[in-house]
Parts: sequence; C-alpha cells; structure tokens
Amino acid sequence: MCGIVGYTGVKDAREILLDSLELLEHRGYDSVGIARFDSETSQVCVDKCVGRVRDLRRECEQETLSSTCGIGHTRWATHGAVLEKNAHPHRCGKVTIVHNGIVENYRQLIENYELQEQLVSETDTEVVAALLDHYYHGDAQRTIQKVAGKLKGTYALVMMFEDQPGVIYAIRNVSPIVVAECEEGMMLASDLTALGQFTKQYFVMPEHAVLKMEADRMTLVGFDGNVVEPELLTLDWEMQSLGKNGYPFYMEKEIMEQPDTFMATVKNRIVNGLPDFTVDGVSDEALTSCKRICVVACGTAWHAGLMLQALVKSVLHMHIDVELASEFMYSDPVINENTLLIAVSQSGETVDTLEAVKYAKQKGAKCLAVLNVRGSSIARESDYVLYTEAGPEIAVASTKAYTTQLAVMYLLVAKMALLRGEYTVEETRHYMEEFQRVPEAISKVLEQRKEIHVVAKNVLEAKDLFMIGRGMDYSTLLEGSLKLKEVSYIHSEAYAAGELKHGPIALIAQDVPVVALVTQEKLMSKELSNIKEVKARGASVVLFIKQSLAEQLKEDYELVLLPDLEDKFMVFPAVVALQLLAYYVSSDKGFDVDKPRNLAKVVTVE
Ligand code: M6R
Repeated sequence: MCGIVGYTGVKDAREILLDSLELLEHRGYDSVGIARFDSETSQVCVDKCVGRVRDLRRECEQETLSSTCGIGHTRWATHGAVLEKNAHPHRCGKVTIVHNGIVENYRQLIENYELQEQLVSETDTEVVAALLDHYYHGDAQRTIQKVAGKLKGTYALVMMFEDQPGVIYAIRNVSPIVVAECEEGMMLASDLTALGQFTKQYFVMPEHAVLKMEADRMTLVGFDGNVVEPELLTLDWEMQSLGKNGYPFYMEKEIMEQPDTFMATVKNRIVNGLPDFTVDGVSDEALTSCKRICVVACGTAWHAGLMLQALVKSVLHMHIDVELASEFMYSDPVINENTLLIAVSQSGETVDTLEAVKYAKQKGAKCLAVLNVRGSSIARESDYVLYTEAGPEIAVASTKAYTTQLAVMYLLVAKMALLRGEYTVEETRHYMEEFQRVPEAISKVLEQRKEIHVVAKNVLEAKDLFMIGRGMDYSTLLEGSLKLKEVSYIHSEAYAAGELKHGPIALIAQDVPVVALVTQEKLMSKELSNIKEVKARGASVVLFIKQSLAEQLKEDYELVLLPDLEDKFMVFPAVVALQLLAYYVSSDKGFDVDKPRNLAKVVTVE
C-alpha cells in the first residue's frame, strides 16, 4: 500500500515523480505529495494535496522551481484521516520523509522522546521524521540505522536530509523497495510499474541495509558496515502493456487479455500433451512427498485456492486446507515438514500472505508460491515459485491474475494426479486437451459482452444482490461477488444455494436480484429447486448457465449462456462472464472502475 518513489539525476524531477506516482496510484490514491531540492537554493520544497496525482500536477503547473532530485508518495490512509496535513512527504527539521507501512510503536516513541510538540499530523510517519531529526548530526547512515533499531512494524522509508542536496536515502523492513540505475539517474519505487519506463534492470532493496542514492552513484551499506552487492534482476514485462490500449479502463483491457495470458501461462508447461514444471525447477519429489496441502492467500487469490481445493479433493482425493492468510497463524494451524504450503498472490507482496509463509517455513513446511511478480518478497521466501504470466495487472480488481492462477493450479493438479497414480497417462492427456480449450471458451464469453452488458443494466439500481450456486459454482461466485462489491459498491453476497434456506432467504425480496450460476450437471436439479425458492419470493433471477444444460429453461429465466467445457473447467468461462458483469455495472454507474474507493492494489499492512 502507498506508492513511493525517489529520483535523483539530471532530468526534471517534478515530471519524473508525478509520472511515476501516476503509475503507482493503484497502491493508494487518497492523497499525494512530492518533495524536491530546489536546484538554486538547495532548500527542500514540499507540495501535497488531498486527491489524485492529476490534482497535484495541476497545483504544481505554475511553479518555476527547478529540481533534479526528489521523493514522492501516493497515500492509502492508515494513521490519520484523509487530510492534507496527513499526506506525505512529512518534514521535521532537516528531515523529509515518505513511508509505506505501519510503525506500530509510534505512540510510545512520541512519549519516550517527547515529540508531541513537533508534530502537526496524526501519522506514524511524522514521528519517524521527528526521531530522525532528533538524532541527526550530519551522519545519515548512522542516524537511520539507529532509528531503525527503535521502530516496530513494517516500513519502506525514503528520506532526504536538508544539508545533503541531491541525495536520497532509503531503508526497508518487509515493505518493498525496488531500485534501478538508468541513463538519466537513479530511481527507486515501491513497485516495478514505476521503473519499467526507464530500464529493465533493477534490484530489490535488501533489508538491514541503508541505500544512499546520488545522481551518478549509489551505495548500499549493511547494518554490519559492509557494502552489499545487490542482485540485479531483469524485468520481463512488456512495458507497452502498461497502457490502456484504447480501452476506457484497465479492468476492461485486462479482462479482454485473458485468452492470451492463459496461453502465456501454460505454454511452456505442457510438453507432449502432459503437464511439466521443468522450466520452473519444481521437482517431482516436491509434489509427491507431501502428505498435506495447505493454501494461504487473500481476496481473489484465496478464491483461486478454493478452486484448487475442489480439484484436489475430486481428482487427488487428498486433504487440503485453504486458509485466509490474515487468520492463518492465529488459528493454530497444523503445519509440519509433511505439509506443502501453497501461497497464492498476484503481487507477491501481500504482507498477510508473506507472514503466513514465514510462519509455515518455521514449522518445517516446504513452500510453493504461485505469483505474478518476479523477485517479490514472497518469491524470496519460497522454496519453489510458479509464476503466472498475467503481465502487469493495474486495475485494483483482479481479473487476469485470477484466471492465470487457476491455470497454474489446474496444471499442478494434473501433474500431481499423474505422479500419484490418480490418473493414467491417457487420462492426463484427456484432461490436458480439455484444459487447452479454455482460451477458446473465454474468447466466446468475451464475444458475448454486449449481452452481458444488457444484463448489467438490470442490476444497476440494486442495493443488495445475491449470487447463488453449488459446489464449484459457489466458489466461482465468491469471486464474482467480490468483483461486483469492490467496483460497483453494491452489497453482493455469494451463498451456497442449498444454504440459503437456513437464514439468508429472509433477505430475498422483489428488489433483490439473484444471479444464479449453473455449470455442474450433477448439482443442477437441486440448484434449480433453490432458484425456484427465490423466484417464489419475488426475486428476479439472472441465470448464468452452461449452454448444454440450458434447454427448456429459456422461457422462464433471463439467461447468459456459457460455452460448454467439461464441468470441472467451467470456472473459466463463468468467472469471465461475472467479471464483465461487475465491470459494466461499475462503468455504467460512472465510477472510476480501476480505483475503487478505500482499496489499494498491493496490501502491505496487516
Ligand atoms: O496481490 P495479492 O494477490 O496477494 O492480493 C490479494 C488481494 O488483496 C486481492 O486479490 C484483492 O482481493 C483484489 N482487489 C480482488 O480483486
């Protein structure tokens, strides 16, 4: 959460900072600020405001200040309301700072160091600035290290000291910072999306070290006083894929990309018609030696975990737990050296998931991560990583990341089924053939988007909505419902269709639309009964249904027909249809689809 950026070099810092912050806005967008060294006076000048980067850009337009060094921040509020005084950068004496994370002991620090008088904001960050200023007497490295020793919590801190024009310092604990040296200078950011425009070479800043960036050099010194050589990584995302490609919103563009991202994810992992993880270096032993599987993830990634659970149970006949990462380590999980922990995360930075991985590793589990961002924190903690090839996902609502996570999971299950003797080679080939029909099925749904748009218009005015389904359909709807909630602000609840009568059916009324999903033949007759129960209570029902199951229902329901695949693969076309539904509801309501209120793309606070 919170986008941070720093630049020192030869170019105009204002444009670089503002452009980069715009690319980082998916991390938080309630207020924004930049601080720059004035090239003429060497003074630090801070500009900040409540609102978006475009608002700050407008405010700065008239300024004549010239600068080649500065830091910037786009905020997702934690401590303190969304007010200009709480926006970063914060300044105290000689120190100017931006921060991503939470300093948990800030109150204690205020008391211990009697800092209250100096503070104007309600943030934990300003306390760090005050503490740095308290200790600073010209040796930034020492001061930063000393203050870091007093902080509890997670942080990526980027700092400037007034008597060191052109110099930026950074330090981090858990919260990420990526750094790049490019032709025009040195650049750091909380997220790779801000660096790709300058260079493809970058490194992830290590913990327990202080980074010093000047226009033509940088040094990284560990807390032990030794120089640290960073490990250079190459960004393999096509940065042109960062634009909207003519779509009004990233979410629409990312939904439309799914046939391609699915293909990109699976193409090197199918050899002779069989699943293969040789390119990933995942040994067969890693997949056969485990006795238990436990998935940890949050939000959409957790929903992908639920789909894995359904497959593991039905194909592998194995026990599998799927845990919300934020609850995991507080629930006394049964984890040991026989457990394969599967961590699922688009960003690879979700701190709840990261902490769950660290906990499980301490208990002896092996960790396999399914991630979209190379070199991310979870990647570095894991024994094995299977990368999804979704490319940069910018819209806060996750779409292509989910379907690529599923793609990896379907491959994983096929591989394990073969290795564990649950499937013969022939059965595995058959599964893989059907699996490879998924992109075509997704494309067919995308072709139906006008129809789905019409359905969306029918739920625009709803305040509450239910989504009902059974088995795998229920898991698919949990994801569909999350999409609708987060981008349209309609209160949507996904419910197991058979469970509705045990309570929530009390909420069904004429103005509460119901979206039902039917793709699992063996559950169809029971689910149709549940649908009749809500219809009988006045609800208008939209039925998303697998085409071959839809005969004889056309008269009674508004239908969205989903292209036929074998039942276990139906999540793919179904979820894409639900993503489109959420997207059209949000865009028709005139919302900023890509930046829903209160949310951020990368969640680095617990
Ligand atoms: O980066 P991660 O996959 O770990 O993120 C997990 C959730 O924060 C994320 O899926 C969130 O629920 C999305 N906004 C859902 O669209």
